[in-house]
Amino acid sequence: MDEMEEKEIGKILQGYQPACVLMAANGLRIFDELAGQPVAVEAVADKLKLSHKGVDRLLHALAGMGIVEKKDGRFSLPERWRKYLTKNGERSMQQWIQLVSDLLQPWLELQKFVKTGKNLTSVMDMLGNDPVRMRAFIDAMHDKALKATWLLAREIPIGEARRMLDVGGGPGTYSLEWAKIHNHLKATIFDIPPVLAAARDYIARYGMKDRVDTRGGDFHKDDLGSGYDLVLLANVLHMYSEELGKSLVKKAAQALVPGGRIVIHGFCTDDDGSGPLNDVLFNINIGLLTPEGRSHPVKQKIQWLEEAGVRDIRHFRIDAIPTGVITGTRK
Ligand SMILES: C[S@@+](CC[C@H](N)C(=O)[O-])C[C@H]1O[C@@H](n2cnc3c(N)ncnc32)[C@H](O)[C@@H]1O
Repeated sequence: MDEMEEKEIGKILQGYQPACVLMAANGLRIFDELAGQPVAVEAVADKLKLSHKGVDRLLHALAGMGIVEKKDGRFSLPERWRKYLTKNGERSMQQWIQLVSDLLQPWLELQKFVKTGKNLTSVMDMLGNDPVRMRAFIDAMHDKALKATWLLAREIPIGEARRMLDVGGGPGTYSLEWAKIHNHLKATIFDIPPVLAAARDYIARYGMKDRVDTRGGDFHKDDLGSGYDLVLLANVLHMYSEELGKSLVKKAAQALVPGGRIVIHGFCTDDDGSGPLNDVLFNINIGLLTPEGRSHPVKQKIQWLEEAGVRDIRHFRIDAIPTGVITGTRK
């Protein structure tokens, strides 16, 4: 038995190494070089101005991880990985991988967080004041949200809605994807003005200027509008304290017409706070990035909804990141 535990600890300890290999290859744009004909180490290294020794080790590690293929001394990225790992892949995760790489430094300082309980960096400062990192963050949100939008659309009767409010909508992925499949749906993306500049690029890219618009402000202080029959809070509540989360849910529910639907998609732990693992780890992640944020437990979010006059509340999990969904309708 002892041996099993030893192996398990070893596996956990080594977890960061393959992750670093993937993040380095992504950051150096190596996957884009491997998407065509098989190439030799030297060709990749020379084209990207990298060392032969470093590229050699990285490509062999990627081959060991089963991500790239080595044949006759040359390397290529198999078709099945291309759509996720290349820049123009239809489900490109490049921005998402970059965002995870950017979070590595705060994670390395986890002990400091545990000692002080204080965040090490501020995600809202970055979104509001650093246009380059804001853009990368918003692009990462988009890459990550796509699958969730499709899975949610299967589970929730979104097709019944005519006017949607996307609170803290970021790139507006949910609004845009749902407007694409339901041609009577009009949506408003509410976010801080710097982020809405990026959202407007997405609206243009989707060709949805006539159906999806934006509304700038601070959702804690400013009016969200009214008369919506669908309000979404996706990946927003985890950024704030229990007090702000609760008041935002109330405000969001008040923006609905009676009978309208609210959807909360986001990280949320089970009642005793020790699962699911992704949500528990995210609880640390968001602690590193915000003063009061957390993966508020499912039970708590349900209580916020009930107190906001929402009924027929349903909670389920989907096979996306994050998994948690809670939905109900306004009395
Ligand atoms: C993690 S992102 C989620 C984006 C999008 N809903 C998604 O799931 O892809 C959180 C978004 O909430 C916005 N946000 C956070 N605090 C806000 C506030 N006080 N007022 C308006 N927007 C805010 C951020 O700018 C950011 O776009």
